[in-house]
Amino acid sequence: MRYAGLIFDLDGTLLDTSEGVLGCVEETIDALKLRAVEPNWRKEILGPPLSVALSKFFGLDEAGGERALAEFRRRYAEWGVQKCRPYDGIIELLRDFKRRGLYLAVATSKAEPFAQRALESSGLLPFFDRVCGPGLQVRGHGKRDLIRRAIEGEDGPFLMVGDRRFDVEGAKACGMDCAYALYGFGSAKEAIESGAEFMVETADAIWALVEGPGHFFSFEGGDGAGKTTQIALVKAYLEERGYRVRQTREPGGDAVAERIRELLLEPSLKMDALTEAYLYAAARAEHVRAVLRPALLRGEIVLSDRYVDSSIAYQGYGRGLGEKLVRAVNEAAIGGLMPERSYFLELNAVEAERRAKSRTGKDRIEMEGEAFKVRVEQGFLEIAAKEPERVRRIDAGSGVDEVFARIRADLEGWLDSSGTSRAGTAGPATGL
Ligand code: TYD
Repeated sequence: MRYAGLIFDLDGTLLDTSEGVLGCVEETIDALKLRAVEPNWRKEILGPPLSVALSKFFGLDEAGGERALAEFRRRYAEWGVQKCRPYDGIIELLRDFKRRGLYLAVATSKAEPFAQRALESSGLLPFFDRVCGPGLQVRGHGKRDLIRRAIEGEDGPFLMVGDRRFDVEGAKACGMDCAYALYGFGSAKEAIESGAEFMVETADAIWALVEGPGHFFSFEGGDGAGKTTQIALVKAYLEERGYRVRQTREPGGDAVAERIRELLLEPSLKMDALTEAYLYAAARAEHVRAVLRPALLRGEIVLSDRYVDSSIAYQGYGRGLGEKLVRAVNEAAIGGLMPERSYFLELNAVEAERRAKSRTGKDRIEMEGEAFKVRVEQGFLEIAAKEPERVRRIDAGSGVDEVFARIRADLEGWLDSSGTSRAGTAGPATGL
């Protein structure tokens, strides 16, 4: 892992607290009949310490600022503090980081008792080793000092995650990288101007910053080559070594694509070859966007039972549409995302026939004749010949363990050469 600990800002990074904060400020304005001198106050007030922001945006002197803060806090304690929700993906992220022993802390300009309560009511408090915010009496506490307190006595390197320039500046002053959360209250402009090392559009993207991007493997071959069994073995093997693994399949992988799969494999339907190619590509477009890219962004290893090579082999060669057309149909669907490794499980014709015979309930594609299967096999072989770097041919004609040993041997080599390890850094996933 690239970092030993993560320090999070709270408002706009872990929790969307806008409803509670803005609601209580509105009530304070009404109660004290305040007038804003900063027309954009609703946007600007979320981020800097409130004790400073209230005076600044409503043109108050010291006494006025104190009164406004007291009014605000009374309401915030009453109802505002509970009006918050974790951003999408935050709970999963914290749970996983905690499980893997990363040091997790919060450095917030929110008064510490409020920070504790907000974290408590949203269920996030147990994930944190330390929560650092100013005391109720402190005014305008700098982020740098809070971050310092958050990391004191702990071993780095640390990554700060925040959504305003104060977080970036504080992190810089403490010699840490900062990931600017664009989903919070700031802006891309501010992120760039403040010199944040990273920008993340969703909480999921933080995963890849900590662990390196994910890796994508596909498994291909004719029907009955034993892909499903082998994928399960590879998954168990990688998980034992501490990797987070996502197993998926094509056509399918999510609700929409699984529905398209039903249509494609329904034995009673007749279908034009081009329609078939588009439907496989449609299911793939969904799979890429809903499953593959998000998983890779989270730094997972994705094992897909079939991918675009199947379309080239089955629709391009099997149905005779040709490789060029099938690639064109799939271009937008995959958007450049290709596996780093594809394992082609090969069976000789006799063994394939023997396994096919023992199968019952054949789907629409499996019902095709011998000549079709030969063309599909030829398609796979030609892809393998063209892309020897990516594609590994695996003899799948022997026992399960033997086949797995072949895959594992290659996989181990790949893990070594890519520099990937449970605690290591990794190269970028292709097309990510
Ligand atoms: P799959 O569920 O992998 O079947 P099996 O477990 O028998 O290998 O795939 C379903 C069928 O869809 C299979 O016969 C291959 C076919 N297929 C295509 O024709 N084109 C494609 O792009 C894909 C992904 C699969």
